[in-house]
Amino acid sequence: MRKPKITVIGSINMDLVTVADKMPAQGETISGAHFETLPGGKGANQAIAAARLGADVNFIGKVGNDAFGELLLKNFKEQDVSTDCILKENDVSSGLANIIVSDKDNRIIIIAGANGKMNARYIDGFKEEIASSDYVLIQFEIPKPTIEHIVDLCHELGVPVIINPAPAMQLDDKYWDKAAYITPNEHEAGRLFYSTEKTLPGFHQKLIITNGSKGAYYFNDGRMITVPVQKTEVVDTTGAGDTFNGALAVALSSGGDIESAISFANKAASLSVRKLGAQSGMPDREEMENE
Ligand code: RIB
Repeated sequence: MRKPKITVIGSINMDLVTVADKMPAQGETISGAHFETLPGGKGANQAIAAARLGADVNFIGKVGNDAFGELLLKNFKEQDVSTDCILKENDVSSGLANIIVSDKDNRIIIIAGANGKMNARYIDGFKEEIASSDYVLIQFEIPKPTIEHIVDLCHELGVPVIINPAPAMQLDDKYWDKAAYITPNEHEAGRLFYSTEKTLPGFHQKLIITNGSKGAYYFNDGRMITVPVQKTEVVDTTGAGDTFNGALAVALSSGGDIESAISFANKAASLSVRKLGAQSGMPDREEMENE
C-alpha cells in the first residue's frame, strides 16, 4: 500500500527539560530532580509522530548552525524524516524550549531562534514538495506572515492543510476558512474561538478540539461529538498534542473518516505520555496494534 505523504512546516527546538517535584513560585529557587536535553518543537514532534506511524514525511524548517542544530538534524534522519528542506541558518541559535515538568504537567518558554527566520520566500522554494503532499501540517511557532502565506499557498495548490493553532494566535477568518481542519486544545479553542461571542464560528465543522484525558471533540451539523480516549499512566504530557496532530494527518491521509481518525490520534497521544520527553513515548504501528 502507498504510504501517506505528509509535509510538516514549522518549528524545531531543543527541549531543555527539568523535572521537579513542584513548580517554583515567582521569585523562588527550588532544587530539581532531573535534567535532560531532548529533541522537540511542535513541528518536529508532529513530523516524528507521523513518521513513526508509517508516513513518508518531509519537513520544511530551519535550525541554527550550532551543536543543537546538528543533533536535531541527526534525530530527524534517525527517525526517517527527510531533511532535504531544512536549512542551517548562520548567526542565529537553534530554537530552544525551557520546559519544567512537574506534577504530570508542564510549563514551557520557547526561544524562536532559527524558527523565526522562516519566511514566505523560503517556503516558495518547496512548492513541488507541498503540491505532492496528501496533507500539510502547520503550527504557530513560526512568524505569523509565514503561516498566512503557507495557508494561502496550500489553498492555491489544492493541498489540504491542518492548522494546529499552538501556541494560540489569532488569524483572520479568511485563513481559518482555508483550513481543512483546525486542531486547538480546549484552552486555545477558548481563546481563539469562544472568548468574545458564545456562538460557534462559521468554520466550526473544521474544528477538532483536544481535551487531554477527556478525549477530543468535533462538530457534526452543529452537534458536538466527543471521541473518548483510553486512560493511561502519565509521566509527561509534553508533545501529546503534537502526537495527536501527526497521527491525525496519517489517518486522514489514509482515507479514514473523521471519527476513526480522531480515535486513532487519541490512542497515539495517550500512548505518548508514558515516557519523559515530547518524542520518546510516541508509538509506532506495532505499539498501536498491540496496546
Ligand atoms: O508541544 C510540545 C513542544 O512545545 C515542545 O517539544 C517544545 O519544544 C515546545 O515547542
